[in-house]
This record gives sequence, structure tokens and C-alpha cells, in this order.
Amino acid sequence: ICILALGLGLSQRQANTGNDFKSTFLSRCQQFQGSNCQRAWDAFQQAYVNRDPCNVPVDAYDPFITAVTLKPQCNRMMFWSKTKEVVHDFNEKKNCFQTLEDTFLGSVLDKLTWCGKDGSFETFTTGCPAWNECDNPVRSFWQRASAAFADAACGNVTVMLNGSIATPFDPSSIFASIEVNKLKSTQVNTLNVVLTNCANPSLQELKTKLAEGINYNCKEVPVTQIQECGSDQEKACGACW
Ligand code: APR
Repeated sequence: ICILALGLGLSQRQANTGNDFKSTFLSRCQQFQGSNCQRAWDAFQQAYVNRDPCNVPVDAYDPFITAVTLKPQCNRMMFWSKTKEVVHDFNEKKNCFQTLEDTFLGSVLDKLTWCGKDGSFETFTTGCPAWNECDNPVRSFWQRASAAFADAACGNVTVMLNGSIATPFDPSSIFASIEVNKLKSTQVNTLNVVLTNCANPSLQELKTKLAEGINYNCKEVPVTQIQECGSDQEKACGACW
């Protein structure tokens, strides 16, 4: 009886966290676009429910990506790698750029963890595989969403890289392995790199990966300058660097 009670307690708890996840998804969705959120939820959760949480391929999210609209803001789009905090801190203070997390697609799932399991239609938020463990629903989602964001990129786009690490353009990152390859010369004019050290050797790799016809630019900007400009209400976006 004890084990049964424990089991029931556990599944009840998991069911509750799953409901919390759905509520978060729906309320964030409603704040953003206000309609079709149930349809978006259905398309989203079919990617991972009733599936081994270690076997969720990137294309499982295709129906969700198709169901939502990504509204790119040409000339304002920003990519990042190993700079999440600096970038989002800057963006919260100053509305200069649009990152994936500022779009509907990214904002609805930002900072959340979820997975399903074989034989159940529930969403779980605990006991899910770690980021690097296997083909897990969270990493596959960000890979798919990043591909969609980069596919839509237009005009002059910016990427903020981390100059305090050895390899700012890290081949295993989403930016290097997915986003750069998706930038199209028919839509993207220039890639502006913002970094503390433009002489870093890994940037050679970035240049070779860029599609022909997309211009490359790198600007050395100290992190302190980014932070100070973020806090300076008076400064226009174009005056930060
Ligand atoms: N373990 C846990 N989380 C990880 C791991 C890991 N090993 N690697 C990446 N992540 C998650 C973290 O949440 C991290 O903040 O992915 C985020 C981005 O990882 P980075 O290596 O900093 O950057 P990158 O892989 O290049 O992805 C960022 O992809 O999300 C899009 O448009 C966005 O340009 C951005 C890029």
C-alpha cells in the first residue's frame, strides 16, 4: 500500500508539474500573440510526448515551427554564443536587437525544461535528460528553432561572441554548427561580429563558413562598454559601438 501511495503521489506530482508547464507555455503564448495558442501547444507537444526522451530528433519540431510565425526584424537580428547573459542583460535594458529569445518561438520556451516518455501523453519537467546526454527534446528544440531563426535572417545581422574564451567561434556551438550555415546571401547583407578580440584564430573558420556574398565585419568592443551603454538611457543603439 505504501509503495502504491508513493507511486500515486509521484505521478500526481509529475502530472502537476506537466500542467504547470502547459500553463506557462499558454500564458507566455497569449502574452505574445494572443491567438491559436492551443493549436501551437498541440503542435509543440506532439514532438516529444509518448516518445523515448532520448530519441527526439530535431525534425520532430517541424510541425510546431510551421504552425507559428517567426517575424524577423531585418537589420536588428542578433545571434550570440557563450554570451547569453551579457546579450540578454543589454537587450532587457535597451531595445536595440532581436534575439531568438525575443521572438515568439524563443520566448515561449526560454529557460524551460521538458520531456515525455514512452507510453504516456504527459509532459514531465523533472527527470529529463541533460543537454548533452542524447537526442533530447530540449536540445533538439533549440537546434530546430535556431535553424528557423537563421533561415529568416535578413539585412545586416549581428553576433556577439565571447572574447574571454580560447575559441569564441566554437564549432560545436549552435551558432557555428547551425546558424552560420543557414544565413543566405539573398537575404543577409553583412554579418557584424562583436567581440573583444577580432584577431582570434577561430574567426578564420567563421569567415570560410559564411556563404559567398555575405560581407564579414568584426568590431572590437570591451564587455564593459556593452554594459555601460546598456545602462545609458541617453545613448542611441547605433552609438553603443
Ligand atoms: N549544457 C547545458 N546547456 C547547454 C549546453 C550544455 N553543455 N550547451 C549549450 N547549452 C544551452 C545553454 O542554455 C546555453 O545558454 O544552450 C545555450 C547556448 O549555448 P552557447 O554554447 O552559449 O551558444 P550556442 O550553442 O552558439 O547557441 C546560441 O543559438 O539559441 C540560438 O540564436 C541563438 O545565436 C544563439 C545561439
